[in-house]
Amino acid sequence: MSGRLLVVGAVNVDMVVAASRLPGPGETVVGSNLQRYGGGKGGNSAVAAARAGADVRYVGAVGQDELGTAALGELHAEGVDVDDVAIKQEASTGAALIVVDPAGENQIAVAAGANAAVTPQDVSAAVERARDWPGCVLVSTEISIEGVVAAVEAAAAHGWLCVLNPAPVEPGIRGLLQLGPILTPNRGELKDLYHLLGEPGDPSIETMAAAVASHTRAPVVVTLGAEGVLSCGADGVPHRIPAASARRVVDTTGAGDTFNGVFAASLAMGADVIHAAGRGVAAASLSVESAGARTGMPSASAIDAAMASAQPSART
Ligand code: RIB
Repeated sequence: MSGRLLVVGAVNVDMVVAASRLPGPGETVVGSNLQRYGGGKGGNSAVAAARAGADVRYVGAVGQDELGTAALGELHAEGVDVDDVAIKQEASTGAALIVVDPAGENQIAVAAGANAAVTPQDVSAAVERARDWPGCVLVSTEISIEGVVAAVEAAAAHGWLCVLNPAPVEPGIRGLLQLGPILTPNRGELKDLYHLLGEPGDPSIETMAAAVASHTRAPVVVTLGAEGVLSCGADGVPHRIPAASARRVVDTTGAGDTFNGVFAASLAMGADVIHAAGRGVAAASLSVESAGARTGMPSASAIDAAMASAQPSART
């Protein structure tokens, strides 16, 4: 079954160096050839969702430059509708400078460029055109906070299911939490959300997720890398979904975006939160086996196959 997903977030061009280790402050490390890939949390999630079988519209902004043309061309080639992307004359297309080490860990610096120039009007115009269209809206915070607020508020106003990936946690999302988005923080972002709500200390992930979920009255799904996810329902009950071991970890860049795209796509297709999170985990585990954020993102059938083979170990 197909589902309709509106993705609001950043698109970047990723410039990647594979090096023997990540540099420390003030240090230079030398790798071999520069690799260029499509990136940005919004663009990556949109591609993951499209490959997982959803009809996807991407909302964001690029500069009027060669990188922007390339970024939109890559999304279009994946079947993502980019008609609602704003072209900003005053800004360059977003770019990320990435170093990846032999264990697949990375270090990323982002030049936000046009992503920071997304306006509420850009979002509301896209939402207006998408009226009655989405089954779910996926929003990530790598764009202007005004764009994030407009997207989450529009989803709430239309009664659309909304997934908010707080990467990074911006103080400006505090007021959005009462609108009940499904949050998908990683471990560090969960702690930031917990403190943003004025909660003290550094308790367990389960305790922090339950506290945040009691505030949003919606599920909180915490991504834990190789450990899978912890999904905490609005009732505070936690549920662990383990990840199958990746055969070989080449590059973890975009694994969280793969999770978010497949999770939101699965919700849009009618899956419940636990099943959707399981599909997201399976897809993210596959995605780390190739270099580049999007290269290893799997098809719907590959996700189904991974889910089927993971079933016995997930029960033990
Ligand atoms: O999450 C990975 C992404 O973060 C990269 O593709 C990079 O562009 C940064 O936005």
